[in-house]
Amino acid sequence: MQIKDLISARVSLAPMAGITDYVLRSLIRENAPEALLTTEMISSEFLTQTHGGDILMREENHSPISYQLSGHKPQMIADCAKYLEKYADMIDINMGCPVNKVVKGTDGCALMRNADLAQNIVRTVKSNISIPLSVKFRLGYTFDELNFVEFGVKMQEAGADFITIHGRTRSQMYGGQADWKKIAELKHNVDIPVFANGDITSIETAEKCLEESEADGVAIGRGALGDITLIGRIAKYLKDGIYLPPPTLDEKIEALKEHIKREVELRGEKVGVKFVRKFYPYYLNGFQGASRLRGEIVLEDSVNKVYQMLDGIMVNCV
Ligand SMILES: Cc1cc2nc3c(=O)[nH]c(=O)nc-3n(C[C@H](O)[C@H](O)[C@H](O)COP(=O)(O)O)c2cc1C
Repeated sequence: MQIKDLISARVSLAPMAGITDYVLRSLIRENAPEALLTTEMISSEFLTQTHGGDILMREENHSPISYQLSGHKPQMIADCAKYLEKYADMIDINMGCPVNKVVKGTDGCALMRNADLAQNIVRTVKSNISIPLSVKFRLGYTFDELNFVEFGVKMQEAGADFITIHGRTRSQMYGGQADWKKIAELKHNVDIPVFANGDITSIETAEKCLEESEADGVAIGRGALGDITLIGRIAKYLKDGIYLPPPTLDEKIEALKEHIKREVELRGEKVGVKFVRKFYPYYLNGFQGASRLRGEIVLEDSVNKVYQMLDGIMVNCV
C-alpha cells in the first residue's frame, strides 16, 4: 500500500506504550474500518533480543497498520524494520517520546537534538524496507529549541514518507495545551503528508485542529481511551459529514466489559484484570458515584466481581 492509501481516512490511532496493544487496536478497528492503527512503541533493542511476542500480534483486518520502533542505532532499527515488514504496512520511528529513561539513551525526543543521527536512522531504515516510513516528533525539545520545521524538512530529505507531529515540546511532557497553529508552519515547508496530534478528544476538536494546523489528518491518543468509537466517528465525519454521537454510559460500560474480557483472554485473569485498571478512569466517569466506584473496582482481582460491579452501575443508573 502506498502512503496515500494508508492515511486516506485522515485519522490515526497514536501510539501509546502499554495502552494501544493488540486488544485496543482490535476494538478500535471494529469501530473504524479504515483508520490507520499504530502499535505501541517497540524498542529495537528489545525486538532484537526477543523477536517480539504479543506486542506484534495483529489480525488481517488491522490493515492499514503502522508499527512504531524506538532506538538510536541506525542499523539495528533498520534490521528490526525489515523484520517487521511481514506484519506492518508502514514503519514509524519514535522521535517524540519525552520520558527520562528514553531520552537519556538518545532515543525518542532526544533525536530532535541530533538531526544528523535522526537522518541517518531514516536513510538506513528506508534503504532496508519496501513499505512506507514515517516519523513522529514534537515541536522541539524545549521552547528555546523549536526546530520542528527544519527537523521535518530534514526527515523528508532523508526519505520519510509521512510525519505525525505532537504540538508540544519535550519539556512540556503532556502539560499545557498542544499548539495546533504551529503545525501549519511545518505543513507549509514539507511536501509529505502531516498528521497533527495532541488534545483531540471529539469531532469538534478534530475539525478545529485540522483548520488551525492545515494538516492532512489527525492522530488521536488519549481521546480514544474510554471511547473506542471516537476514531471511527471522526473518520465518518471527515468522509461523509455524518455526525455520530459519543457513546452513552451504558455503551461505555459494555465497551469496558468487552475490553476486560479480551485482555483476560489474552493475558489470563490475574494479569488481565490488573492490566485493565489503567483504563478505568477513562471509562468510568461522568456519573454519580464514579470516583467511589473507581476506588473500589481497582482493588478487585476477580473478573466476575468486576463484571458484577459494572452491571451494578447500569442497574443503578436506569
Ligand atoms: C500513556 C502514553 C503512552 C505513550 N506512548 C507513546 C509511544 O509509545 N510512542 C509515541 O510516539 N508516543 C507515545 N505517546 C504520545 C502519544 O502518541 C501522543 O503523542 C500524546 O499522547 C498526545 O496526543 P493525545 O493528546 O491525543 O493523547 C504516549 C502517550 C501516553 C499518554
